[in-house]
Amino acid sequence: MGLDLQSLNEVACGMVAPGKGILAADESTPTIGKRFDLIDTKSTEKSRNAYRDLLFSSKGIEKYISGVIMYDETLRQSSFDGETPYPEYLSEMGIIPGIKVDMGAKPLAGFPGETVTEGLDGLRQRLEEYRSLGARFTKWRAVINIGEDIPSFTSVSTNAHALARYAALCQEADLVPIVEPEILMDGDHNIEDSFEVTELVLSSVFAELYAQSVELEEMVLKPNMVLSGYGSADQADVNTVAEMTLDCLKRTVPAAVPGIAFLSGGQSNELATAHLNGMNTLAGNRKPWNLTFSYGRALQQPALKAWGGNDENISAGQNAFMKRAKLNGLASTGAYSEDME
Ligand code: 13P
Repeated sequence: MGLDLQSLNEVACGMVAPGKGILAADESTPTIGKRFDLIDTKSTEKSRNAYRDLLFSSKGIEKYISGVIMYDETLRQSSFDGETPYPEYLSEMGIIPGIKVDMGAKPLAGFPGETVTEGLDGLRQRLEEYRSLGARFTKWRAVINIGEDIPSFTSVSTNAHALARYAALCQEADLVPIVEPEILMDGDHNIEDSFEVTELVLSSVFAELYAQSVELEEMVLKPNMVLSGYGSADQADVNTVAEMTLDCLKRTVPAAVPGIAFLSGGQSNELATAHLNGMNTLAGNRKPWNLTFSYGRALQQPALKAWGGNDENISAGQNAFMKRAKLNGLASTGAYSEDME
């Protein structure tokens, strides 16, 4: 089944189709190097290609994965069977190819402990090339910290402004932007603090998207869930996380946005699935947007471990990946239960 997508809205709806979600496999070279260190595997162009090939060639992946976010290097690499460039390889399976286009979160001058995401200079030209290589959507991640007197107004508004400028350029280039404002869950703040900061950041992002004439029907939002800080002694349960995340999104995300695909942000694999399922169970069909996943770690951790950099373990790695893909696919319609683990 090939892809025959006409409009950006169709691409956006395809990315958040019920029962499916997005695989974030867009770790930069330094980041994938850190993941490989954990399994004692040397990060080379070849080993990175081998690992991405393991994921993308998992049998049945297209049942649960609607799109894949790649990194610049991967977008230019090819499948091991038949040397098909990945954008084409994925499209032939009905999976939408995407690309991370930001250049990372860098220290925000004058605001210690805060960052601004860079990558707007020259973006128009890069987008043109990515589109010609077959990408249909993009990702830009802004990073917001919670701490004493943090986030500042400056970091929230600067990151929201950059996200909106990025999104406008993508739509101009016929690419669907994933707008990702991530509030980190590092720290000992409670879930109410997470709610307050997430509400502030999303409100600011949508005001900027409006100011810069971004079409809401032609984007996907990738937010954090509203969670207790990882260092907090008081960890909210699954139902509370589901309820508070939904409440926060209802206040801030216009109904015109086709879908919301969450990041996993360091949650355990099982909790990332349970939280998504909790929201879909609670909201049923009363929600205006599809709610799904765009996980990196929560989809890949077990696969990386089972593979361990060893060719003999490719199918073990693929089985581990497919288990998470399937369970998260079920969670995207509220059909997951813990006993499936
Ligand atoms: P995690 O799911 O590991 O947070 O990664 C998702 C992602 O793409 C972050 O930009």
